[in-house]
Amino acid sequence: MSQSNKQIVLETRNSAMVLTVGSHQKLFQSYLGARFNRSADYAAVQSTRRESYIAAGMEDLFEPAIRVVHADGNPSLALRYVTHTSSKKDDNTIETIITLKDPQYALQVLLHYVTFNKEDIIKTFTEIKNQEKGTITLSNYASAMLHFDASKYWLSHFDGDYMTEMRMKETQLTTGIKILDSKLGARAHMYRSPMFYLSLDKPSSEREGELIAGTLGWSGNFQNTFEIDQQNGLRVISGMNPYASDYKLEAGKTFTTPEFIFTYTQKGKGQASRNLHDWARNYGVLDGNKPRMTLLNNWEATHMDFNQDLLVELFDGAKKLGVDLFLLDDGWFGNKYPRDADKTALGDWQEDKKKLPGGIGYLVRQADAKDLKFGIWLEPEMISPKSELYEKHPEWVLKLQNREESLSRNQLVLDLINPKVQDFVYNVVDELLTKNPGVAFIKWDCNRMMTNAYSPYLKNKQSNLYIDYTRSLYNVMARLRNKYPHLPIMLCAGGGGRTDYGALKYFTEFWPSDNTDGFERVFIQWGYLNFFPALTVSSHVTSMGKQPVKFRTDVAMMGKMGYDIRVKNMTEEEIKFSNAAVITYKRISDVIWFGDLYRLISPYEEPRAVLMYADKHKNKAILFNYILNFRRKEYLGKVKLDGLDPDKNYRIEEINMMPDAKSVLPENGEVFSGDYLMKVGLNLSAGKVAAITSSVIEITATN
Ligand code: GLA
Repeated sequence: MSQSNKQIVLETRNSAMVLTVGSHQKLFQSYLGARFNRSADYAAVQSTRRESYIAAGMEDLFEPAIRVVHADGNPSLALRYVTHTSSKKDDNTIETIITLKDPQYALQVLLHYVTFNKEDIIKTFTEIKNQEKGTITLSNYASAMLHFDASKYWLSHFDGDYMTEMRMKETQLTTGIKILDSKLGARAHMYRSPMFYLSLDKPSSEREGELIAGTLGWSGNFQNTFEIDQQNGLRVISGMNPYASDYKLEAGKTFTTPEFIFTYTQKGKGQASRNLHDWARNYGVLDGNKPRMTLLNNWEATHMDFNQDLLVELFDGAKKLGVDLFLLDDGWFGNKYPRDADKTALGDWQEDKKKLPGGIGYLVRQADAKDLKFGIWLEPEMISPKSELYEKHPEWVLKLQNREESLSRNQLVLDLINPKVQDFVYNVVDELLTKNPGVAFIKWDCNRMMTNAYSPYLKNKQSNLYIDYTRSLYNVMARLRNKYPHLPIMLCAGGGGRTDYGALKYFTEFWPSDNTDGFERVFIQWGYLNFFPALTVSSHVTSMGKQPVKFRTDVAMMGKMGYDIRVKNMTEEEIKFSNAAVITYKRISDVIWFGDLYRLISPYEEPRAVLMYADKHKNKAILFNYILNFRRKEYLGKVKLDGLDPDKNYRIEEINMMPDAKSVLPENGEVFSGDYLMKVGLNLSAGKVAAITSSVIEITATN
C-alpha cells in the first residue's frame, strides 16, 4: 500500500465502511464491518481488490453497478476519484458525497453515503450527471454496490403473492448470480419484497451472527443481485431494475437513484431489525414518532354493498369498539357507472348519489356527531374502462397500441408520467380534502401491476416508463405532502403489494395483506416486522379466520391494531372483550409502537410464535404468545425473555383476557428480576395448551 492512498472512513456507532482511493485514482471498498475501537486500525484495511462502484465496459467482467452508453456510442465508463465532502445533517447524521468522473467524458457519478450513527444505518444512493453534449443511455444504475469476503453466505428473502405475502426463506448462496427482482411496474412487491438479510460465514439467529439487513426504498421495479465470483467474493448490487429500462438521459440532466438502506451488525437478525425500526421511526416513515389511530374499516364487513344509513349504523359499531376512526372503503363513488362491483368507475371520484345522497360531507358530520373521525379509500392511479374518465381521456391510459387491452381486476393503469394526469390525481385528493376538511385519513390503494405497458406521453422514450412512473407517483405524493404534511395515509396495493421505504416517506402505515385470517397473519406480520416498525403494520381484527376473537385480537395487537368487522354480528361478550381490548391497546401501544422488538420464538421453528416489545427505558414490556398448533405430549419449553434490565424487578401480569377468564400462567402476578426472566423465562405453555390460543403479558418494572 502506498502512503499516498487516501482513505474515506464512514462510521456509525458500531459499524464502519472504508473506501480507499488507490492506483489510477480508482475508488475501492476496503472494509465493511464492525467499527474499530482504535482509529489507527483503519490504516490496516486498505485493500484495493474491489472497486466500490464498478462500471461496465472496462476490465471487470462480473455484474456492474453502472453501464453507460455515451452520446458518441462508446459503451464504457471509467470512474476516477475527484473529490469528496462530508457534511453534518444533524447531530446523528453525516452525508459523505464522493465525486467520480470519467477522464475522457463529461460524465460524473456522485456516490452518496449517509450514516445514521445511533441507529447503525447507512443509506446510499447515486447521482449520475450527464455533462456531455448529447443524450446518453443508462442501462445499469445501482443505488449500492457492496463487497464481502466471507467463507459462506446465507441469504434470507421474502416472497409470496396476493394473500400470502412475506414468506421467509433462507438459502446458502453458491457461485453465480441470485437475482431477487420485480418487473411488475406498479404493485411491484406483490411477488417479492425488496428486503433481505445476508449472513456471513454461517446463518445468523435472532441473537447471534454477523449480517447485513438491506432494502431498497423504491416502489417500482427493483433488482437485488447477489453474485459470487471465482474467488468466493460476493458483490451485492441493489437498485432499480434495469429490465426494459435503458434510460435516456438528456444533456445537462442528472439521474438520481433511489436509496438503499442497510445495517451491519454482529448481533443477529433481532438487532438488525431494531436498528431498522429505530431508523424508520426517526427518518424513514412519515411521522414515525407520532401515535397512530385505531380504526374500523368496512371492507370485509360490507364490500361495496352499503348505503348511507348502513354506514351511519356501522359508526355505532365503531363507537362500541371504542376506536378513533371509521374508514370507508371501496364502492362509494361513480354515478354514470356506479361502483357496485370492481368493473366500473375508477377515475370517477364523485360520491355515488344513490348510495350517499348526503355525500361525504354528511358522513363526516355524522361521524363527528358521534365523536368519531372519518377516513376514505381511494385508488387514484387507476382507471376502469367503464368510467366517464376513460370516455373523456382515453389518451391518459397506459396501454399498447395494436394489442388487446390487458385488464387486471377489470382495470387499467393511468399514465401518471403525463403531467396532466399528475394534476388530475393531485386534484382528486386535494378537492376531496378541500370540500371535506373533516376527512382525517386516506387509504391509498393500487390494485394491479402493469402489463402491456406503453405510455402515450413518453412517445419514443418508452424505456423510461417504469422508472418515470414511480418518480411521477412520488412527485404527486410530494405535492400532496406539501399541502397536507401530516394527514395519515395508509399505503395499500391489493394487500401488501407496495411496501417499501421509498413510499413510506409519504405514508404513515401500510396494509400488509388482504389475508386477515389470524393464523396466517401471525406469519405475514412476523415477516414485515423484520423490516418495518409495528406502528406501520396495519393489523385488523376481522371474521376471516374462524379463530376465537381473543386470538384474532391478540394477533392484531402485535402491530397497528384496527378492525374490519360487522360489530352487529358479534356477541355481547365479544363486544365487551373487544372494547376492553381497545382500551388496553391504547394504554400499551406506546411500548408496541416505539419500543424494541425481540422475536423470541419463530413460527418457522416451533408450532408457536412469541415476541415482545420493551420500552427504551426497560420499564415496561409487552409479550405476545401464540400457540399455532399443538400435538399430544408435545413439549414447549419455557421462554427466556430479552431486552429487560437484569437489575430491575418486574411484575408479570396476563392482560387482554376474555371477561371472567382466569390466567393459567404460573408466574401471573409474581415479581422476578430481569436477570431471572432472561435466564429462566416464563412458562408460557402451562395449563391446557391448545392450538390457536394466545396470551398477552404485561411486564412492569417495580423498582
Ligand atoms: C384491495 C385492498 C382491500 C380493499 C379492496 C377494495 O384488495 O387490499 O383492502 O381496499 O382493494 O377494492
